[in-house]
Amino acid sequence: MANFPQIRLRRLRRTETIRALVRENHVNINDLVYPLFIVEGKGVKEEIASMPGIFRYSADRLSPEIEEIAELKIPAVLLFGIPQKKDEAASEAYKTEGVVQQAVRLVKDIAPQLIVITDVCLCEYTSHGHCGVVTAGRVDNDRTLPLLAKTAVSHAEAGADIVAPSDMMDGRVQTIRQALDEKGFQDTAILSYSAKYASTFYGPFRDAAESVPQFGDRRSYQMDPPNLREAMLEIEQDIAEGADMVMVKPALAYLDVIRQARNTFDYPLAAYSVSGEYSMIKAAAQKGWLDEKQAVMETMIAIKRAGADIIISYHAKQVARWLHSD
Ligand code: PBG
Repeated sequence: MANFPQIRLRRLRRTETIRALVRENHVNINDLVYPLFIVEGKGVKEEIASMPGIFRYSADRLSPEIEEIAELKIPAVLLFGIPQKKDEAASEAYKTEGVVQQAVRLVKDIAPQLIVITDVCLCEYTSHGHCGVVTAGRVDNDRTLPLLAKTAVSHAEAGADIVAPSDMMDGRVQTIRQALDEKGFQDTAILSYSAKYASTFYGPFRDAAESVPQFGDRRSYQMDPPNLREAMLEIEQDIAEGADMVMVKPALAYLDVIRQARNTFDYPLAAYSVSGEYSMIKAAAQKGWLDEKQAVMETMIAIKRAGADIIISYHAKQVARWLHSD
């Protein structure tokens, strides 16, 4: 490489148009997925205390929100359901008239082109708040699988385009794929939360979804944060079991995992910028300590630069607005 003064890397940073010409990564509205929390009942639109700007909606209050998302041209929503009744068998998770199943039908009525992704997990539906069935104080992998499959099928029946298992049970992608195919849902895709870490950054979500485990924690099923190679095994396994898309979650503290996954696999890769990532920036912005737009956009581009194709973010509506106005 020739030396200075022949080489001056600053030449291509001189103006915004030159910078844009040589820019290596971009955030597009098409990359975005917006999560939504749906509660049972009527007339509910309540802000989540730890997530300013994010609301829980009952189905009857959902339409304006869906219309706004569609108008912003955000391609997809990710639905979470919060039932009134929770029990050991998570019965509300796979009911035809369950909270998420009804919401899926409603979204498809209002905005048929909007991609509906559903979170497939039991933690919002179990009385103990764990992501699976509990036997003798332990989360029972193999007894959980058929319930996850039933849940996924009920979402597909309601019209979900993509089901997204987030429970971290072994074998769930295969079990769900088989169940979907048996019921004729060959075209329902699976986005697997493949490398999902046991993260403290889910804190605000658990407030929002009322899914704090009543005993213990999730470390016997979610991944141990120090592990990178194991994340590749999880992803490889999910692809072998039939995942169409894979995910790394959280995003910001796991950018190395996203990069490694991108280098190793050619499947579409999603990154979930989780509730705690949203709340940190929101809180700092509210205090005037950070510029919210710049902090969010820098985070978004970091996730893209790490190699993600799809970004699930609670900031998606704001990002879409900023992208439209630039
Ligand atoms: C359900 C689930 C969780 C999140 C997505 N799906 C919570 C958890 O595993 O405790 C977290 C999302 C977020 O923090 O934004 N298992």
